[in-house]
Amino acid sequence: MNDQPIVLGIETSCDETGVGIVRGTTLLADAVASSVDEHARFGGVVPEVASRAHLDAMVPTIRRACSDAGMALSDIDAIAVTAGPGLAGALLVGVAAAKALAIALDRPLYGINHLAAHVAVDQLQHGPLPEPTMALLVSGGHSSLLLVPDVTNDIRSLGATVDDAAGEAFDKVARVLGLPFPGGPHIDRMAVDGLITIEFPRGLSSSRDMQEHRFDFSFSGLKTAVARWVEAREAAGEAVPVADVAASFQEAVVDILTRKAVLACKEHGVDTLVIGGGVAANSRLRSMAEQRCAAAGITVRIPRPGLCTDNGAMVAALGAEMVARGRAPSSLAIPADSSMLVTEVSAREGLM
Ligand code: KG4
Ligand code: ZN
Repeated sequence: MNDQPIVLGIETSCDETGVGIVRGTTLLADAVASSVDEHARFGGVVPEVASRAHLDAMVPTIRRACSDAGMALSDIDAIAVTAGPGLAGALLVGVAAAKALAIALDRPLYGINHLAAHVAVDQLQHGPLPEPTMALLVSGGHSSLLLVPDVTNDIRSLGATVDDAAGEAFDKVARVLGLPFPGGPHIDRMAVDGLITIEFPRGLSSSRDMQEHRFDFSFSGLKTAVARWVEAREAAGEAVPVADVAASFQEAVVDILTRKAVLACKEHGVDTLVIGGGVAANSRLRSMAEQRCAAAGITVRIPRPGLCTDNGAMVAALGAEMVARGRAPSSLAIPADSSMLVTEVSAREGLM
């Protein structure tokens, strides 16, 4: 018998309705319904469309997770939910569902931070996180370097993007290249057949920037540089070498992400780097991180792609770690906090 608590996690911060169930660090179910196809024609996530899709998908996704795990809701010991950051209306659907379950089942509620969950999920695949761990989170909404002494209550931000997130840059460049939304996976695929022939700028890497923005990122200048380069070819009546542009752009993003992540590990004396968020699915990011970390004596841990993109298992994983460490549950009065700071691992009571 395994007496570790069973935790159900709900994720609705963006366009994925995720419900995961874990026992300790063992994944039992990871049901995800995505509304990404409904946003594709707009070239980005439309908040109101996402909220409505969460409402439709919530109950069926909870049912599917329970059935995949072979259990009834009454078997669940605690409920965890993404309280922020994310789209306000989308978060509200998950937070309301989690509160309803916590009340109906009379179980504790853990309102947790989405970014911390992206870090904690790695425990489901690679076991307990060393303390401290360095985390590079790269998604459509975030690009952050985090020093993580304790994923349940001590996360420190070393740097973040000052403009576009890494995934946002992939999506915008994909659009310039005529590739569908979300663009990251398409650029990744195109780049395989491309050559790195164009030297695109690496944002915030000059010696001055390395003083003022040592662990910050900037992708907006890179995105503009790609757009100008493509426009110049088109204006000259030349064909755009899409695969080469994709490979060169991807190289610029991955180079700066891994360079700063390795530097952060070295300067803070941390020997483990976890990479999470949707962009962590990128094949070049995975291979360059492995090469550079190996050369620097750093262990790199990247969850499988399905655990990198938004899902409920990551929320359940962090909830289970909170339970295991005896962290206090949240009040039923916690708000959905669209701008929740990464340094707040759990939600605090506030006005709703
Ligand atoms: O974590 P996620 O699923 O949702 C957010 O919280 O944003 O990340 C989605 C982002 C999108 O921008 C998508 O283009 C990007 O992750 N992405 C990728 C890859 N797969 C997904 N970017 C680069 N290469 C990939 N293979
Ligand atoms: Zn995310």
